[in-house]
Amino acid sequence: MSHPLPSCDMPVTTLRDDDPRTAELLAGGARVVAESWGARLEVVDPGPLRALVRRVTDRGLVVGELTASEAAEVLDLETATRPDYPDGPATPRPDLDAAGAARLFTDGGRVFGVRDDGLLVAVTAVEQLPDRAETAFTSVRATHRGRGVGTAVKAASVLALAADGVRRFGTGGAGDNAASLGMNRAVGYRVTERWLTLES
Ligand SMILES: CC(C)(COP(=O)(O)OP(=O)(O)OC[C@H]1O[C@@H](n2cnc3c(N)ncnc32)[C@H](O)[C@@H]1OP(=O)(O)O)[C@@H](O)C(=O)NCCC(=O)NCCS
Repeated sequence: MSHPLPSCDMPVTTLRDDDPRTAELLAGGARVVAESWGARLEVVDPGPLRALVRRVTDRGLVVGELTASEAAEVLDLETATRPDYPDGPATPRPDLDAAGAARLFTDGGRVFGVRDDGLLVAVTAVEQLPDRAETAFTSVRATHRGRGVGTAVKAASVLALAADGVRRFGTGGAGDNAASLGMNRAVGYRVTERWLTLES
């Protein structure tokens, strides 16, 4: 009895959708197995960002920057939300352990969070690249989604970094993550590139 080859044995390539090799591979019969995107924010308008933060602070939630002493709570939140991240070849899930959570606060990394009655319910981690501040990941506890909490924590991170002189921000995610796209658009990110993962 013969079986189709498992897909992990097939060559998989991730290319920008406007890369000429993408059209060549598709014409040759390659299959799109995942889509992803990158977005940029280069004009920071503090007024609307502060309003996004106020939408949740007005409900009694606390939004602010976290310190390394809170790394264990970040790990706890990420352990709870890890299954909810889309897991694609170009957008692997964050895979934190205690050392990884502690590292988020080193080498220029900044971490912001939202607390509800003391419990950490959202986190966004940002790393400083040579040309921009890039979001490593953002997550909101399942009980608190769809109420502007993710948007608020990202808005708070952009406000704090912009106040420190950062002018270019980058983020990205899986093509099918509508909540992530919605959150980033609300903060002012514009999608600047799209990527296809092709199996041939
Ligand atoms: C992605 C995530 C952080 C968004 O957080 P959130 O607090 O639920 O998002 P918000 O409530 O701020 O919503 C942001 C926008 O996206 C839209 N949105 C939210 N959830 C959505 C969903 N499930 N489907 C479609 N759009 C959605 C909302 O309409 C909202 O826009 P609006 O404020 O103009 O109405 C959250 O869903 C999450 O933790 N997901 C699991 C982890 C993950 O995928 N992280 C992103 C990859 S790094």
